[in-house]
Amino acid sequence: MRLLSLLYGTGSVPRTLITGGLGQLGRGLAKALRGKYGQENVILSDIIKCPDATVKPYEYVDVLDMKQLDTVVVTHEIDRVVHFSALLSAVAEKNVPRALQVNATGFQNIVEVCARHNLMLFCPSTIGAFGPTSPRHPTPDLTIQRPTTIYGVTKVYMELLGEYYHHKFGVNFRSLRFPGVISADTKPGGGTTDYAVHIFHAAKDTGHYKCFLREDTMLPMMYLPDTIRSAVEVMDVPEEKLKLRVYNVTAMSFTPAQLLEEMKPYYPNLTVEYESDSRQQIADTWPEVFDDSGARNDWGWSHGYDLPKLVRTMVTRIDPDNPHLRTL
Ligand code: SER
Repeated sequence: MRLLSLLYGTGSVPRTLITGGLGQLGRGLAKALRGKYGQENVILSDIIKCPDATVKPYEYVDVLDMKQLDTVVVTHEIDRVVHFSALLSAVAEKNVPRALQVNATGFQNIVEVCARHNLMLFCPSTIGAFGPTSPRHPTPDLTIQRPTTIYGVTKVYMELLGEYYHHKFGVNFRSLRFPGVISADTKPGGGTTDYAVHIFHAAKDTGHYKCFLREDTMLPMMYLPDTIRSAVEVMDVPEEKLKLRVYNVTAMSFTPAQLLEEMKPYYPNLTVEYESDSRQQIADTWPEVFDDSGARNDWGWSHGYDLPKLVRTMVTRIDPDNPHLRTL
């Protein structure tokens, strides 16, 4: 803490604001940062009522309201912003004007506030920032990015605007392109990769899952604790080690059929029917295998969960009484 107090002038440790904090990633990241910097130094925020005391300190923050952003940054003496507010791919396609507001205007506001108050900014990007003309197997950090979803378009805008504010105004902007994130306690908010979370709940609850992607649809994935650790780590990387402001990170790639195969020992009677919907067209334009060698080489990224470990951990968390956990 003493070293940290030398680094951060106003307070003893960096104070972080997390926007969109009640989605899939916010609480987990808040827990990790609070463990490191103290409960009171991480402010979760969102546009819904505080659900319970465990998320506090908590603020109502609408990223479309600049004045409110300024106010929360000033009153809480914020040093870093983690900007999670965004509509995911499938939801964004259904409401393009809202996606433009939240994903594009929301980020414009955030990056401007960060420039104004000299704040570090972390904002996740996504496999969705690539498109049908990008190399898909593997997809490197620097390549063609012509996404065909509004989600992808706004995330490329976010990447470019963040980089622009970095070189023009010196904003300490950092971003990681996340793959599909698989979590046990929190639910994703309407993405194309969500099947890989839903299937675990269906396996436990009904023994049957109707999958909205074809069985051979390969996508990059990651278990939530790895995702959170990657965000915590990239915010701590010394400036001179960063060769890029935006890096790919991943842990594994699999298809629905491969995931089912891995789950079978725990759920021998699990059945899956495949009935693809509009999310299939999205998935068909996304990377199959993500090349994250830049993150691994430049700042030591390494994942902790591969597919077998992910499946075992998800079953343990979601279905702790599963009888096969004892024998496998
Ligand atoms: N999980 C996200 C989605 O499917 C990808 O960033 O939209």
